[in-house]
Amino acid sequence: MKRIAVTGAGGQIAYSLIFQIAAGELLGPNQPIALQLLDVPQVVDSLKGLVMELEDCAFPLLKEIRFGSNPQEAFAGADYVFLVGAKPRGPGMERKDLLADNGKIFVEQGKALNEAASKGVQVLVVGNPCNTNCLIAIHHAPNIPAKQFHAMTRLDQNRAQFQLAHKANVRVEEVSCVTIWGNHSSTQVADFVHAKIKGKPAIDVIRDRNWLEKEFFPGIQKRGSVVIAARGKSSAASAAHAALGAMRSLIVPTPAGEWFSSGEYTQGNPYGIASDLVFSFPCHPEIVSGLKWDDFLQEKIAITQKELIEERDCVALLLRG
Ligand code: NAD
Ligand code: LMR
Repeated sequence: MKRIAVTGAGGQIAYSLIFQIAAGELLGPNQPIALQLLDVPQVVDSLKGLVMELEDCAFPLLKEIRFGSNPQEAFAGADYVFLVGAKPRGPGMERKDLLADNGKIFVEQGKALNEAASKGVQVLVVGNPCNTNCLIAIHHAPNIPAKQFHAMTRLDQNRAQFQLAHKANVRVEEVSCVTIWGNHSSTQVADFVHAKIKGKPAIDVIRDRNWLEKEFFPGIQKRGSVVIAARGKSSAASAAHAALGAMRSLIVPTPAGEWFSSGEYTQGNPYGIASDLVFSFPCHPEIVSGLKWDDFLQEKIAITQKELIEERDCVALLLRG
């Protein structure tokens, strides 16, 4: 049996994610699973309704469901952990504006993971600002290797993949090697230079650098806010789908020569990014080395790195515990 913990279980992302996991979409059709759901005490009662709905789905693989507000119990023996529980931003906010409220959640949960999770646990941080929240959790889980923590930039990757496919008038699966560098924020770097369309460089297929730099690139940076403006709430189903894909990429091999994007701890990274950050790289699932940055990427990557250093400075006290 594999144990999968989801925090923020009463929230909108979890309402989509949990049912996909229970249906076997994370670990496949032959793997029995236990779900361990966490939310704050005020929300725990409503999780009874969620549990009833899970029961009413009669999922063959779902053998056990636990829920509560104690992180240690939620993470006990967990093999896969989705750290979703955190406040979302509203219109006009940047994700880093959430740090003051959300950062401290990841102190407590990092400690609880350290104590209770399985030693090989894989942790995906979704709650924003996910890179710096992930860094906080890493600092409080010294017994879990930092490379087992990941911050979710998969939604940005998926957004970029769709936009490139749409522009080139190809199927989405014909677009590969889309890298998001840096922070899951409005400084993120959606790399069209190394992306491929039908195996060829995207820049040789979409011969419109102006569109790539001036429309595609900022469009991916701002997509989260544009969704919030349109829906009145932040993205949920697309975030759940991305969370599932991000964790699956750690389990199911990515084809040779391709990669996915994920926020990883920077210690010893092959790109000279400052250490002690969580920065999104091309992954397989180890960081893929050797991609060369042109002047455009170099300049934009410096900006997103600077922002992550500033976010780290803001949470210096939380990093120390
Ligand atoms: P939501 O408000 O619908 O749900 C959040 C849930 O987390 C609530 O039920 C809340 O009670 C719970 N929660 C709060 N503190 C908690 C704690 N300490 N422990 C456990 N649970 C706790 O929000 P949502 O739309 O599901 O979004 C959740 C987070 O995911 C937000 O921070 C949002 O910004 C982020 N997000 C990230 C991405 C990404 O690409 N990385 C995409 C979408 C949303
Ligand atoms: C997103 O990218 O949609 C999420 O991070 C939510 C947000 O705040 O934009």
